[in-house]
Amino acid sequence: MNRIAVLTSGGDAPGMNAAIRAVVRKSIYHQLEIFGVQRGYSGLINREIIPLELGSVADIIHRGGTILRTARSHSFQTPEGQEKAAAYLRERGIEGVVVIGGDGSFRGARVLEEMGFCTVGIPATIDNDIPRTDFCIGFDTAVNTVIDAINKVRDTATSHERTYVIEVMGRDTGHIALAAGLAGGAESIIIPEVPFSLEEVCSRLLRGVKRGKRHSVILVAEGAANAVSVGQGIKRLLQMEVRVIILGHLQRGGTPTAFDRVLASRMGGKAVDLLLANKGNQALGYWQGEVRGSTYEEIFNSKKEFLWSDYDLAGILAI
Ligand code: F6P
Repeated sequence: MNRIAVLTSGGDAPGMNAAIRAVVRKSIYHQLEIFGVQRGYSGLINREIIPLELGSVADIIHRGGTILRTARSHSFQTPEGQEKAAAYLRERGIEGVVVIGGDGSFRGARVLEEMGFCTVGIPATIDNDIPRTDFCIGFDTAVNTVIDAINKVRDTATSHERTYVIEVMGRDTGHIALAAGLAGGAESIIIPEVPFSLEEVCSRLLRGVKRGKRHSVILVAEGAANAVSVGQGIKRLLQMEVRVIILGHLQRGGTPTAFDRVLASRMGGKAVDLLLANKGNQALGYWQGEVRGSTYEEIFNSKKEFLWSDYDLAGILAI
């Protein structure tokens, strides 16, 4: 293994830059030539590979987003696109690729693996929906962004004695809503894993009002229900003053937390170790206090565990 490349793909996540930095610096430390692919898999097709040096990753550990840019590539899903990408990698003499992203990005990495390249996946998505890892890079930062928003909203919610419905990201999973709901003391957490019941949300609200609560925060994962409709429903059923906030893409930005930077650095370093040992077909995960590899197959055949005990606890603590 002499030449490796790194790319970021899919939705960006805070901490991707810290992972790129670790891959680049560890590669150079081991005298590997390291290249960056711009705009994810599209960059492999559109011939966007650039050499990276120690200085290329200076001053980025604290920055959100990805200096390599990212994209969701449709062309790479076609055999022609995949052939083009592989031909370009071969032309550049690249044998190993580190792919930083989510599930879709790992599926792309498996394609490259099947085409003869050695690949390692690093899980980075604020949704935290990759199995065989407790944390994906970006999740902790996103949850802290939501907490920051909840703290601010609580100030005005208390002053005006209002109910706030806050929509957070999470297309298919409620990990952000759950963690932020538990840490932010939300009265209700509406997530795709649990069928939505407006009546249940209202009865929890009423119970709070009866014991003297003057304001409430309800968190909704985007994939579970429409926050505006939830707000309208509460207004209709309880004749309460409700405000709705959709946090949207601001959850994907911002300086990564120390936790995400440490995780990204560890995973970036480990990815290079695996490539040096010619151990591809691996996606990294962090569990039981260690960064470990799983095969892509193991990832695709597993289901991310949902923290039901946290969900139950959040419900109990919000009484
Ligand atoms: O996958 C991460 C994620 O932020 C989801 O939570 C969200 O639904 C989606 O990406 C948004 O994607 P886009 O940036 O394409 O709007």
